[in-house]
Amino acid sequence: MTAQIIDGNAVAARIREEVRQGVEALKRDYGIVPGLATVLVGENPASQTYVRMKQKACQELGMVSFGYHLPGDASQIEVEALVRELSANPEVHGILVQLPLPRHLDEEGVLGAVALEKDVDGFHPVNIGRLAMKGREPAFVPCTPNGVIALLDSVGVQIEGANAVVLGRSNIVGLPTALLLIGRNATVTVCHSRTRDLPGVTRQADILVAAVGRPQMVRGDWVKPGAVVIDVGVNRVEDPTTKSGYRLVGDVAFDEVKEVAAAITPVPGGVGPMTIAMLMKNTLIAAQRRAKAQAAAPGGL
Ligand code: GUN
Repeated sequence: MTAQIIDGNAVAARIREEVRQGVEALKRDYGIVPGLATVLVGENPASQTYVRMKQKACQELGMVSFGYHLPGDASQIEVEALVRELSANPEVHGILVQLPLPRHLDEEGVLGAVALEKDVDGFHPVNIGRLAMKGREPAFVPCTPNGVIALLDSVGVQIEGANAVVLGRSNIVGLPTALLLIGRNATVTVCHSRTRDLPGVTRQADILVAAVGRPQMVRGDWVKPGAVVIDVGVNRVEDPTTKSGYRLVGDVAFDEVKEVAAAITPVPGGVGPMTIAMLMKNTLIAAQRRAKAQAAAPGGL
């Protein structure tokens, strides 16, 4: 039996359509156009592509994007000053600082300068802290992890009580995904480069999330029959048969694992489109909250 292919493009398209309608309603009812500011520092080509995609998504959904591009040698003071200015700008409802930042910058300091209510990436230290704690609510949930959970929900897998294994403990994906799964009452194991007998651990998983950045590392015999597998990896591998000379593969050996799993996300077309859809959703939520607060205190905000 081969696995159900989880169509991230279709789930993301549904979310984007809901966001588009929400944007229209906000304009009609409050005269507010949601605005997302993107902050890119330096010339990392992948980051430039991601930021362009986010700006394009804003346009498609009727939001405004404000793009800021600082040179790779910008100082900590300059980057933080820009983020604080955006935090104070009423036309900006969400702020996205594209990561990774150049190494001379203190990431925590920059992310800490984002106003909590505009932290649509969910990476402000306070929001991550709230995500980690029982009974606390972050203002926003990080986009890719939120997309992972939405994909699991889209196939109706029961998260509560499941054994979930997360491969990777990055601040952007692995760690917040593990926190969200804990919040949904899964029993969560987080694996990393020092984990012993990785295949033995992953074979226990009812839900397996791979976010390590190693092309096709998860093989067919690493997966329990009937597991649900979410592949967050986006890796370029050489492929002379394609026009570009490369193709994208995930962290999971798709052809093998689809013969074992109950459901699996493809790469591309799985988690990828969910990240931007969730960012757009968070930006709409930020603008909706602002609109409601303004309506409750006219002249006061
Ligand atoms: N770099 C890779 N993924 C992300 C993301 O989701 N948000 C930001 N800001 N930077 C990233």
